[in-house]
Amino acid sequence: GITRHYTFNIEYLNVTRLCHTRNILSVNGKFPGPPLVAREGDRVEVKVVNHISNNVTIHWHGIRQINSGWADGPAYVTQCPIQTNQSYTYNFTIVGQRGTLLWHAHISWLRATIYGPIIILPKHNESYPFEKPYKEIPILFGEWFNVDPEAVISQALQTGGGPNVSDAYTINGLPGPLYNCSSKDTFKLKVKPGKTYLLRLINAALNEELFFSIANHSLTVVEADATYTKPFDTDTILIAPGQTTNVLLKTKPHFPNATYLMATRPYFTGRGTFDNSTTAGILLYKQPLNPSKNLPLIKPSLPPINATNFVANFTGKFRSLANAKFPANVPQKVDKKFFFTVGLGTSPCPQNTTCQGPSNTTKFAASVNNISFALPSVSLMQAYYFGQSNGVFKTDFPATPLNPFNYTGTPPNNTIVTNGTKLVVLKFNTSVEVVLQDTSILGAESHPLHLHGYDFFVVGQGFGNFDPNKDPAKFNLVDPVERNTAGVPAGGWIAFRFFADNPGVWFMHCHLDIHTSWGLRMAWLVLDGPGPNQKLQPPPSDLPKC
Ligand code: C2O
Repeated sequence: GITRHYTFNIEYLNVTRLCHTRNILSVNGKFPGPPLVAREGDRVEVKVVNHISNNVTIHWHGIRQINSGWADGPAYVTQCPIQTNQSYTYNFTIVGQRGTLLWHAHISWLRATIYGPIIILPKHNESYPFEKPYKEIPILFGEWFNVDPEAVISQALQTGGGPNVSDAYTINGLPGPLYNCSSKDTFKLKVKPGKTYLLRLINAALNEELFFSIANHSLTVVEADATYTKPFDTDTILIAPGQTTNVLLKTKPHFPNATYLMATRPYFTGRGTFDNSTTAGILLYKQPLNPSKNLPLIKPSLPPINATNFVANFTGKFRSLANAKFPANVPQKVDKKFFFTVGLGTSPCPQNTTCQGPSNTTKFAASVNNISFALPSVSLMQAYYFGQSNGVFKTDFPATPLNPFNYTGTPPNNTIVTNGTKLVVLKFNTSVEVVLQDTSILGAESHPLHLHGYDFFVVGQGFGNFDPNKDPAKFNLVDPVERNTAGVPAGGWIAFRFFADNPGVWFMHCHLDIHTSWGLRMAWLVLDGPGPNQKLQPPPSDLPKC
């Protein structure tokens, strides 16, 4: 591989959407941000220079960061933030991954506007395990706020209440024609007939799982989170924040007498079928004969907001390719098992104050095993590496919930969370199984759980209580999907496995930013192995200080 050099200047940019102009935070004055393009095996060096007044970090979401934990990016986990007028160079090699990922800011809610695609092409002389596409198009889903998203989250955390929702969903930064004052801000995908396009779908939204569909066109899923999947056809995609999905779009053999809407709408929080929670773009055949003819616009049908069965079905279709060339290294035996409840809860409101949480004496919180994770004011991995973990973190994260959990469909009495900065310590190369059980105590959203530094195999999923005596017998240990972000269904569970073969401190959290902010996050500490390439390397000299 070669080395690819990038400079990301974090700078202000004036952007107008929905007739509101804001000075947003951007990379290199682009919104969405520029693509990072590399081949499998390449080394990537990105110098990030902070020209804004906020502290910032960038996370290369889904990059395994083998031997390069200092380049992962979550603030106060693997690094202190880059302060105003400072810079930091992220330096990593792309090992054993190919497809689409995303980069985004990883501090507070700055990823609302600081995000972009990571495109990993196969090595030279290697081809895709599917038809070579005529063109490749990144499609990034996001959210637009008419106000500063930092004000939205700080207000929510101060009052203990829920945050204001965004004003629009976007496709490649554009809300599309279904919102007021927005028709000129519409993403148009211009295609030719009889061709195959590779759409690199990326959900960079802060807080919504999204459905995506293109009217009268079916999509073939071929890759998820930078691993190839067994291909399957679908009319609709569900994609959670942090997930990426590559799909093939075959255009119609001849010029059709129509144009087609592509539409994106949230799972579980939207309203009607096409309303102001729908973002849309247009699939436009470049008509050589009649370019000005006004063709009818056909709308796709999207699943209803509570399409839980569709979602379970759809996510169950993902299988890794698991062939000789791209084997699935699924742990067949497990050294360590963890059972984690994930979900929303409450914590007591500070004395003599009124909160806007579920009651006026409580505020919203979220937790893993009833622990609401508190970020320290220094970096966890620095504290670990320099032997200064005393007073920063503890290593007694509970392997099972503090309050026993039994899902009965109604809220059980274990909503109160405790705050703490607790890590799970894993010996190098431990084979780990994690069952994530949603508590569905408040709200009916599923939780897209994201693990840093690893891909995991989703060996099982189900509704209701996970049954440790029956469910493991049904696990798929042959060709489960390999991802870095997987949705824990509302009122259900998923089980995943991975080998802890990458030393360092690795964050795991719900990729709905509001749930992360409320504490649905924790971290793993993976110890060094015996070999020279199995140790956390010394930090680079420009690693920011807190
Ligand atoms: Cu995409 Cu910890 O984040």
